[in-house]
Amino acid sequence: MEEQTKPDPYPGIKIGLTYNLKKENHSGTHDEEAEYDNIETIFALKNAFEKAGYHVELMEADDDLPLRLKNTKVDIVFNIAEGRGGRGREAQVPSLLNMMGIKFAGSDETTLCIALDKALTKRVLSTYKIKTPKFKVVSDIKKMGSFKGFLFPVIVKPNAEGSSKGISDVCIAEDITSLKNLLTDNITSYKQSMLVEEYIDGREFTVGILGNGRDTKVFRPMEIVYLDQNRNYSVYSFNVKQNYKKLIRYDCPAALDQQIEDKMIKTARKIYDTLECKDFSRMDFRLSNDNEIYFIEINPLPGLAPGYSDYPMLADFNGTDYDTLVQSIIYCALKRYNIRKG
Ligand SMILES: Nc1ncnc2c1ncn2[C@@H]1O[C@H](COP(=O)(O)OP(=O)(O)OP(=O)(O)O)[C@@H](O)[C@H]1O
Ligand SMILES: [Mg+2]
Repeated sequence: MEEQTKPDPYPGIKIGLTYNLKKENHSGTHDEEAEYDNIETIFALKNAFEKAGYHVELMEADDDLPLRLKNTKVDIVFNIAEGRGGRGREAQVPSLLNMMGIKFAGSDETTLCIALDKALTKRVLSTYKIKTPKFKVVSDIKKMGSFKGFLFPVIVKPNAEGSSKGISDVCIAEDITSLKNLLTDNITSYKQSMLVEEYIDGREFTVGILGNGRDTKVFRPMEIVYLDQNRNYSVYSFNVKQNYKKLIRYDCPAALDQQIEDKMIKTARKIYDTLECKDFSRMDFRLSNDNEIYFIEINPLPGLAPGYSDYPMLADFNGTDYDTLVQSIIYCALKRYNIRKG
């Protein structure tokens, strides 16, 4: 990895680790808690920080978080909390931290709010000429309007979710009738607007970024390769993510034409800068059969579950193991704030 993002332990620094855990007592859809973390991930992060000489305070992002932050002074927060509801939920903890004057790693509330709204992100990026599939947001089936001009099939996904929540193996509509049925079911189940997007047939890639400004490093793209090549559609769905060992293979670095890889990396960097991401991020692309790169979505708060989440996986393929990656992210944040102790 590059010199500038190499972790440099700052012993004595106290990190507050904020998170939301899966509770396993939900009553809604089967994937209701998909975005929340397991305690194993929290311990893996804590362990990585402690190996570098940091002191870690675990801080669950519940109703008592403001009190915890007030009573336990930390030098910086490493935030992976997904928030507790609403379209801007990922911004809740960063907003609170800013309100209390506490420094934190990762993107701020404005970036997280925009990125969690897929349509809003696509609108912003379109103004910077980033290619993204044609789309429309539908919040009420009675007002879905015309889909004239859309090339079917289309994919239907909740507009403000991640972790493939709401993306089942039957999220593709081949005609207007099946689109109406899909929208009716999903608006009821997920109680939010749905994003209808032209389905881009082709290969799928995810790209990870680490760092800030001139020190930003873009990892080489990782391809999600579907083992069953006879499927009509390849969707990295909730089910595929749960059964990834059987259904897909990860190729990293992906076998890509150098020119296309360079363009994908350049596009990823442009998106990162445009949305003013901080420290780290992951974004998804599709490469159409005629070699056009389409931006699908960005995760400025990517999952960090070791051995499962795409961001640590692609970093590992690129030669940055889990502990080094986590230490590098906090290092980037400490450097950004000019914090130095020890
Ligand atoms: N326009 C599209 N064309 C083709 N496939 C798509 C399109 N949009 C989404 N997909 C498929 O659906 C998957 C999930 O979509 P998306 O990445 O938008 O959801 P997500 O839940 O936010 O993902 P993540 O788990 O990365 O947060 C993609 O990885 C891709 O396989
Ligand atoms: Mg995705």
